[in-house]
Amino acid sequence: MLSYLVNAVRQCGPVLLEAEEIGRNVAEKDGPRNFVTAYDVKVQAMLREQLLSRWPDAHFVGEEGDCQDDARHGLAFIVDPIDGTTNFIKGYRASAISVAAAQDGQTICGVVYDPYTDSLFTAERGRGAWLNDRPIQVSKRGLAEGLVCLGTALYYPEERDRTFALARALFDASLDLRRSGSAALDLCYVACGRAELMTEARLCPWDYAAAGLIVTEAGGCISDLSGQPLPLDRKSSVLAGTPRAYCEFFQKGMDRL
Ligand code: IPD
Ligand code: CA
Ligand code: CA
Repeated sequence: MLSYLVNAVRQCGPVLLEAEEIGRNVAEKDGPRNFVTAYDVKVQAMLREQLLSRWPDAHFVGEEGDCQDDARHGLAFIVDPIDGTTNFIKGYRASAISVAAAQDGQTICGVVYDPYTDSLFTAERGRGAWLNDRPIQVSKRGLAEGLVCLGTALYYPEERDRTFALARALFDASLDLRRSGSAALDLCYVACGRAELMTEARLCPWDYAAAGLIVTEAGGCISDLSGQPLPLDRKSSVLAGTPRAYCEFFQKGMDRL
């Protein structure tokens, strides 16, 4: 299955790379700062067509439009066609295509592809995680020697105070903060040792389903901000890290901010 998913995702890369006049194809959805482009819709349609032609009985959950099947039973695909849409619109070149396959509520395969750097992050449950052809592992570092990727939960004003209280605490405890604009890439960066912790106060399953498996298969930890497993059927806070950085987060009481 992984090679089929990789093939399907790679075919969508050129849609992002060759996009022109993106600004004319942007619409706002679910409030200010939350955008959708014709390219998000196109990539999701391409993936839906490819995956359901191969597995016609599978459920399909996609960020765009009315694609909210139940991912908790049977085979389900959970897709974010462009994670980092604002970056994409701005030409910031930090976005990824994310596809997870889940069986009975458990993620079994994950693919996150950054077409700008041709970086393909993959994982299969129980078999490991890879960046292109190279197996990846989280770093052994803790917070004090670590970079922290902090998502600003920008679509949820009610999360701002907690987010910026956490930003201050994490800034004081770590080497520095990063804010990439793509939660899936942040998680993959923890998985391959470029960063030590990632957190965001609210994300959707398509933001973390694929990359979450990549983190755990690379030896990292992931949960919500109170240590509970991440759901595939609703929004959740997310905390991922190297085992050391993840534990230090709780030891320092940051979950109670
Ligand atoms: C967003 C990005 C961003 C994160 C947001 C996500 P989108 O996804 O991952 O980094 O802060 O919470 O919703 O909307 O670009 O697919
Ligand atoms: Ca997303
Ligand atoms: Ca998206």
